[in-house]
Amino acid sequence: ASTLGASAAAKGRYFGAAIAASKLGDGTYANILKTEFTSVTPENEMKWDATEPSRGTFTYAAGDKILSTAQANGQKVRGHTLAWHSQMPSWAQALSGSTLRSAMLNHVTQVATHYRGKVYAWDVVNEAFADDGRGSRRNSTLQQTGNDWIEAAFKAARAADPNAKLCYNDYNTDGVNAKSTAVYNLVKDFKARGVPIDCVGFQSHLTNTAPSDYQANLQRFADLGVDVQITELDISGSGQAAAYAAVTKACLAVSRCTGITVWGIRDSDSWRTGTNPLLFDSSGKKKAAYTSVLNAL
Ligand code: XIL
Repeated sequence: ASTLGASAAAKGRYFGAAIAASKLGDGTYANILKTEFTSVTPENEMKWDATEPSRGTFTYAAGDKILSTAQANGQKVRGHTLAWHSQMPSWAQALSGSTLRSAMLNHVTQVATHYRGKVYAWDVVNEAFADDGRGSRRNSTLQQTGNDWIEAAFKAARAADPNAKLCYNDYNTDGVNAKSTAVYNLVKDFKARGVPIDCVGFQSHLTNTAPSDYQANLQRFADLGVDVQITELDISGSGQAAAYAAVTKACLAVSRCTGITVWGIRDSDSWRTGTNPLLFDSSGKKKAAYTSVLNAL
């Protein structure tokens, strides 16, 4: 096939992009989005600060705009993200303990209810583990509400939207290491105890290369009985095209790897400013990395 989305579909996968509601009026952007991608993730529009800017007041206009654009294009939507230590509104940043716990759970319930039946997967919890080389939980105010905050968020999401796939999502978990093993143990424990979890997202913000055990890492999670997805792929540096092919092939080699999302469309859209980590250049032209992915699909 001649597009990322159609080629991925021929293999039973989606190929998605993170998008910004504010860019949908840009013709080049909108055209690539519609032509190449079969899934979208709102880059910021469904985060806590965007959807509940003051406590109990919910604002869905930007998220809804992404949803309706995706529906018009026949694309899936990955909801991102319900509970995360970053991009919390300032009112929530000021809370702690049981007050924060109930505000978080109310947030999960309200947002997942608003989008019930419309998003196929939610990143319920994002980035809850630390980078200390020991697989510790991140020391956030959410963590300080009690070690069970992650399962509480997943249970609230399941109750609000029983048909959405519920994912745990993180970075630096792309190979086998202490952090990914901590996530692995969390998923294993949830499965053993019947805590709802359906999928694990691997952000895959990479530089130069993919970890050599990338596929093996995806496979060990899949073997726990969850789907795996590449959720925020971008790759900077000299090995870019080859690393994109390696990630694509790794996903295709794992039957429960259901799709790949790149974190932006053009290099100029990337949050990794100045590193040109995406598949289209700033003028919207396909890069060598694009061709590498298309050939790998
Ligand atoms: C980033 C967005 O791309 C930026 O526009 C925003 O300023 C900060 O957040 N991990 C995630 C994403 O899960 O939500 C982050 O997105 C990138 C890192």
